[in-house]
Amino acid sequence: MRVIIESTPEAASRRAAQMVARLVRQKPVCTLGLATGGTPLKLYSELIRMHQEEGLDFSRVTTFNLDEYVGLPPSHEQSYRYFMQKNLFDHINVDVRNTNVPDGRALDFEKYGERYEQMIADAGGIELQVLGIGTDGHIAFNEPGSSLGSRTRLKTLAPETVRDNARFFGSEKAVPRLAITMGVGTILESRRCLLLAFGENKADAIAATIEGPVTAQVTASALQLHREVVMVLDEAAAAKLARREYYDEVESAHRMLETGKLPWIEEA
Ligand code: PGA
Repeated sequence: MRVIIESTPEAASRRAAQMVARLVRQKPVCTLGLATGGTPLKLYSELIRMHQEEGLDFSRVTTFNLDEYVGLPPSHEQSYRYFMQKNLFDHINVDVRNTNVPDGRALDFEKYGERYEQMIADAGGIELQVLGIGTDGHIAFNEPGSSLGSRTRLKTLAPETVRDNARFFGSEKAVPRLAITMGVGTILESRRCLLLAFGENKADAIAATIEGPVTAQVTASALQLHREVVMVLDEAAAAKLARREYYDEVESAHRMLETGKLPWIEEA
């Protein structure tokens, strides 16, 4: 797990956008896993800028979103399909037929979950999965207690998540209580994960995810079992990490490798 700490959400989002862009440039036919919420907004606006100003080409990219509220039509302003159109898809040259957001109005969610998993498999799996994290440590809508082997299915939102998301709906009462979400097991199968977290209200969840035990009570902690995870944090979200000094050491080691300057060799 690589932990990158930037001074601000803006700097962290630019860093994350560079990682996404590098993949899209190296592998124009690729499959991205995308997230919604307040956290990835700056990442998406940076990708839009890269498309508009630098010609970053999404024409052969396929996308899969993590989750969707049950019952909301795509035209609902709080649906995740609407969010993705407004904050990313409408402003880049992705083919909308290659963008997938779970259907919150599926008639049979069990069958639909299996179908969504199959669609991901048919696309060759997810190359890079963008993730946020809930204050309760969830990834996607995998609330505390979700099986770490879970697949795409219905989940009931935890009270903490309902409270957190009330800001988007105007009141707690209006927040859907059910969502269809990729499972922890689905996320663990992506080739790379890029988790973003900003702000002091994420500091406890981030410390538990990175430095706590692997537990279904903090589903993001399952990422400790993943083969390649990058966490991009701002200072506030990183504030409760005990091994901060080491994460900074790792980053300076990466810079040494990039520049080819190894001080212990030069000094020898
Ligand atoms: P947020 O949500 O980006 O709006 O903080 C993250 C999440 O709940 O996964």
